Amino acid sequence: MSSLFDPIQAGDLRLPNRIAMAPLTRNRAPGAVPTGLMATYYSQRASAGLLISEGTAISHQGQGYAHVPGLYGSEQLDGWKRVTDAVHAAGGRIVTQLWHVGRVSHTSLQPEGQAPVGPSAVVAKTKTYVIDETTGQGRFEPTSMPRALAQQELPGIVHAFAVAARNAVQTAGFDGVELHAANGYLLDQFLKTGANLRDDDYGGSIENRARLLLECTRAAVDAAGGGRVGIRLSPVTPANGIVDADPQPLFEYVVRQLAPLGLAYVHIIEGSTGGPRELPERPFDYAALRSAYRMAGGQGAWMVNNGYDRDMALRAVESGHADIVAFGKAFISNPDLVHRLRDGLPLNAWDTSRFYGGGAEGYTDYPAVHPG
Ligand SMILES: Cc1cc2nc3c(=O)[nH]c(=O)nc-3n(C[C@H](O)[C@H](O)[C@H](O)COP(=O)(O)O)c2cc1C
Repeated sequence: MSSLFDPIQAGDLRLPNRIAMAPLTRNRAPGAVPTGLMATYYSQRASAGLLISEGTAISHQGQGYAHVPGLYGSEQLDGWKRVTDAVHAAGGRIVTQLWHVGRVSHTSLQPEGQAPVGPSAVVAKTKTYVIDETTGQGRFEPTSMPRALAQQELPGIVHAFAVAARNAVQTAGFDGVELHAANGYLLDQFLKTGANLRDDDYGGSIENRARLLLECTRAAVDAAGGGRVGIRLSPVTPANGIVDADPQPLFEYVVRQLAPLGLAYVHIIEGSTGGPRELPERPFDYAALRSAYRMAGGQGAWMVNNGYDRDMALRAVESGHADIVAFGKAFISNPDLVHRLRDGLPLNAWDTSRFYGGGAEGYTDYPAVHPG
C-alpha cells in the first residue's frame, strides 16, 4: 500500500512525495514577464513533490487575463529561468502549465485588439480580468465574442504548443510541461459540444473534437519527451461556461489515445473546479476513466485534484484511487504544506482578496512552521 508521503516515479520525474501544487494563476507578472517575487513564491513551496506553475500563455493570442506570464518571448524565458533556478536550488521540481485560453479572453488582451479565437463564434458566458494600463486598476470584464479559427490556422496552434514545450524545458529550465486542457480553455473548448459547433475535421464526432488536443499533446511529447509531459483534464466542470452533452465516452476516448504517449502524468479535476466534487446533473465515473487509461497501456501517474483535505488525500493514495494529489488553495496559504500534512498540523487560512494581482502581501508572506 502506498502513502501520500512515499516517493513516486512519474515518467522521467522522480518525486519525493505524492503532493503536487496545483496550477494557480496569481496575475503578478506585469508585461507577461516572471519576476523575482515569483521566484521567491515558488521556491518557498519547493518541498512539494511537484510544483505546477500557474497557467502560462504559449502565445500572445493565448493570453486571457492581465499580468499572466508567457513563454513566447526571450525576456519571459529568462524570467522563468530565474524561477526554475530558485526552485532547483531549494531542492524542488517544477513543470509549467501550457495555456491557450481560446475564447476566454478580451480584445484588450489580444494582439492589435483583435477578437479572441475559439472553435466557433460562441461567446463564453464568463468574465476575464483586465487591468487599466493608465490607472493600474484591475477589474473583471465579460469575455469578448470570439472568432472561429479556420482549419488552416490549427497547425499554427499545434506549433505554438510544441515551441513552448521545447523552450520551457531547454531554455527556461522547467522539468517538464503540463498541457492545460481543462476549465473551458481552448483545448477543452474543442473537446466539448457546448463550444464546438464545427463541421470540419475538428468538430462533430468525438474523434474530431479530440483531434486538436491530441495533436498538441503529441507535438509537446516530440518537443520535450513524453516522460516530461503531463495533461490536465476536467471532464464535467462548468468553469468558464463550458459543457459537454456526453463527457464519459469523450474522456474515455481521450485517455485511451493518450495511453501510448508515455506521459509523466494525467491530471484530473474531479467535479466543478473549486466547487462541488459531485454534480448530480453531470455524473461521471472517474474509476472507469482511470481504468480506460490503464487498460489501454497508460502508465503515467494518475493525479487528482479538487477540494482534497488531508484525510481525503491520504485515503485517495492508500486506496489506489490516485497516485498523486494536487492541492490548490491550501498551497497558496501554506508554503510548507507537505510538512504540515505529514505532521497533521493546522493549516493557515487563505485570503481570497489577494489571489489575483498585487504584490508580496497574500503571496510570499504566509508563515511557514518548517522553513525551507
Ligand atoms: C487563485 C486560483 C488560480 C487558479 N489558476 C489556475 C490555473 O492557472 N490553471 C488551472 O488549471 N487551474 C487553476 N485554478 C484551479 C486550481 O488549480 C484547482 O483546480 C482548484 O483550486 C481546486 O483545488 P483546491 O480545492 O485544492 O483549491 C486556480 C484556482 C485558484 C483558486
